[in-house]
Amino acid sequence: MSKKTYLLQDPETGKRAELEVRDGTLGPSVVDIRSLYGELGAFTYDPGFASTASCESTITFIDGAKGLLMYRGYPVNQLAEKSSFLEVCYLLLHGELPATDELETFETTIGTHTMINETMLRLFNGFHHDAHPMAMVAGVVASMSAFYHDTTDINNPHHRDIFAHRIVAKMPTIAAAAYKHSLGQPFMYPRNDLNYAQNLLHMFFAVPAAEYEVNPIAAEAIDLLFILHADHEQNCSTSTVRMAGSSGANPYSAIAAGIAALWGPAHGGANEAVLNMLEEIGSVDRIQKYIAKAKDKDDSFRLMGFGHRVYKNHDPRATIIREVCHKVLKDLGRVDSPLFELALKLEEIALKDEYFVEKKLYPNVDFYSGIIYRALGIPTSMFTVMFAIARTVGWVTHWREMIVDPDGRISRPRQLYIGPAARDYTDIDKR
Ligand code: CMC
Repeated sequence: MSKKTYLLQDPETGKRAELEVRDGTLGPSVVDIRSLYGELGAFTYDPGFASTASCESTITFIDGAKGLLMYRGYPVNQLAEKSSFLEVCYLLLHGELPATDELETFETTIGTHTMINETMLRLFNGFHHDAHPMAMVAGVVASMSAFYHDTTDINNPHHRDIFAHRIVAKMPTIAAAAYKHSLGQPFMYPRNDLNYAQNLLHMFFAVPAAEYEVNPIAAEAIDLLFILHADHEQNCSTSTVRMAGSSGANPYSAIAAGIAALWGPAHGGANEAVLNMLEEIGSVDRIQKYIAKAKDKDDSFRLMGFGHRVYKNHDPRATIIREVCHKVLKDLGRVDSPLFELALKLEEIALKDEYFVEKKLYPNVDFYSGIIYRALGIPTSMFTVMFAIARTVGWVTHWREMIVDPDGRISRPRQLYIGPAARDYTDIDKR
């Protein structure tokens, strides 16, 4: 607790509230307003929670001004360079990097939870072939509480552990089943001799009729993209998971709520929207027209993959992904990708434009990720599902932190009511 306090005075009654300031390890301090309503009878107003810390957290830190992202204190660029996705999952879930034997045990645990209940596979047949994969994935993840009763006691730490392993392990399997259903191809069972990204590629692209060899460039790129997407502190979907979970709902429902929140184009759905936008722009000579649309207050068009609530400088993930994009396209022999060229040009033009400079709008994580996924053969409609697979470990880690938080209560914001004052019911013949 800081020694600093804020003094707030009701201008009408003169009553005062002294609000304590709390300091974290890094980042801005917070003013603890919990006593405000009790003392002054007033709420705070903060649409979109732009100035509100909803919880304490030990998981992820972002410095938006410096363009810095850290998981458990480790800069994401170091993890991207040296770590693997499953090691990062361990780090997020346990708070520390694993020793060799701990990592091996963790990899085996995740590897042995990859299959899904066979009945769940039949659920996919209830979806039309052209259902969006995010709709299928959100629905099937929500159904997991109907299958895995042995992990729904939120007060049992053992249940919470098994739930965490299960959901991280099964997300690629569920995603692959959604993809295969949309193609009308047979589902491919997971292979536990492959690593996380290799197994995902196998389930997506192998068919029972032919041999399939996982492309190591593709597996490496996916592993890296997953590290970069693994967590991002109190973003919209993570806050949704925490909020849904705060009522004591089973964890699978809370994750399904997070998946639903992620789907929106302002959040994880942006990676799909970026590709659609680049295709709509089509050529470099049309960029200015779209920049003008993005700046026009009367036009709802936004430059997708640009801007961020927290980053007012380069999104460190976007910087890494741009480099990876160069490398993957080169390694796959697709150096002259017109979409990548267009994206680079769009970034260059936007970053020189006064509107984007003044509003500190930079490319975010979603700007280049879709170009890599496209180069790896993953269809546009699966992009947000890829984000969901990677972010699952972040959601689970936050859900677990929320469950044991001594300050935790059901999430229940207040409001400023501006509707009609009390009035009497008018009989229908008098309206
Ligand atoms: N294109 C044009 N103008 C923009 C953009 C954009 N992409 N983003 C923000 N602005 C403008 C906005 O119109 C506003 O202008 P003014 O102050 O004149 O009203 C100003 O910049 C601030 O924007 P905001 O909407 O108040 O900012 P926010 O923090 O509420 O929203 C955002 C952040 C990411 C939702 C927004 O920048 C956006 O819609 N970007 C496009 C969608 C996108 O790429 N989303 C992915 C985010 S990163 C990954 C993730 O979270 O999943």
